Amino acid sequence: MYLSRRRLLYGTAGVAATSLAGCSAGEETTELTGFTGISMPTKTSERWDIEGAALEKQLTDFGYQAILEYGDDDPEKQVEQIQGMVDQGVEFLIIAAIDNRSLGEVLASAKDNGVYIISYDRLILDTPDVDYYASFDNYQVGVLQAEHILQRLNVEEESGPFNVELFSGASDDSNSQYFFQGGLDTLERYTYDGTIRILSGQTEQGETSTERWSGAVAMERMTGLMEDYYEDERLDAVLCPYDGISRGVIYALEDWGLTPGSDDFPVITGQDAEALSIQLIRDGEGQTQTVFKDTRDLAGVASGMVKTIVGGSEPEVNDLGTYDNGFKFVPAFLLEPVSIDESNWQEELVDSEYLTEEEIDDAVEPQAEEYDPPRN
Ligand code: BGC
Repeated sequence: MYLSRRRLLYGTAGVAATSLAGCSAGEETTELTGFTGISMPTKTSERWDIEGAALEKQLTDFGYQAILEYGDDDPEKQVEQIQGMVDQGVEFLIIAAIDNRSLGEVLASAKDNGVYIISYDRLILDTPDVDYYASFDNYQVGVLQAEHILQRLNVEEESGPFNVELFSGASDDSNSQYFFQGGLDTLERYTYDGTIRILSGQTEQGETSTERWSGAVAMERMTGLMEDYYEDERLDAVLCPYDGISRGVIYALEDWGLTPGSDDFPVITGQDAEALSIQLIRDGEGQTQTVFKDTRDLAGVASGMVKTIVGGSEPEVNDLGTYDNGFKFVPAFLLEPVSIDESNWQEELVDSEYLTEEEIDDAVEPQAEEYDPPRN
């Protein structure tokens, strides 16, 4: 009977590793060498740039060969790159997907070759061929953003009503729904009792989403919201899921005539602790919060998973029941995000050597070219 590697390895990475170590005569006895393909989405968002390099370094420090490629936010390009890695014989794939539903076929081909697949930061959907998920508590990210808004608007003391608008991330990134849901659930009580109003009425993920997480796309939507709903109304806060989006929103509000840092400027949240956004938070220039996800730790979790499997054991996970990818609950290791504002950026980011003061001082718009005319 023909027994494919796919059936041997299907869905049970850790078990497969041990069974390879202890297989009997006639079965494949390939020793894993740790050869890994790292597939990152884009370089226009700072974090992926840092993480790609960190993953590559950690894996090569372990003595493993690694290939690192960026998909330029183009799902088809990412699929081609991953197929190329499989063709070159990688044993592991660490993938931060661009479109979480576009990888089924290429991952099936990877699994046929016995490749272990780690979904990195973003959950890959609609395929059985994901072995592990390494990420942050994505729901909590949205909770932290919304809690910042509630605290800045002082909703426990002030009855408002406060006007808030909502942005969500790219609709083809499964993280977007977790961030958005965390934010919505946290604001819900105050929208029901009338303390918070959303004048646009746009509270669904579809209508609030931001294609490719692009600041320029967010800027356009924010401008439209101001024109349609805020000619005569004050906007008190904008729930923004990512620093690039936050800055796009800030640019729109500036063009509308509001002065960042003034009392009239809305509370603006974010995510990723990008250097330019930290500069704005530090200097009181519009953005008031971001969520720091220590990507050094996440890279460490993913490269550690590779090392553990190469060593013949099963990687540690701390969540088995949250991340349903349509086929199964993917075993996950989740890290905790941290809310950052002007009170703790120094301690959390500079003292921990995630960013230097110089990087914050010298930061320029990483998505500059997406704007017309380009920012900076
Ligand atoms: C990540 C965020 C990031 C966003 C845009 C999400 O999948 O979890 O950290 O801000 O993508 O790159």
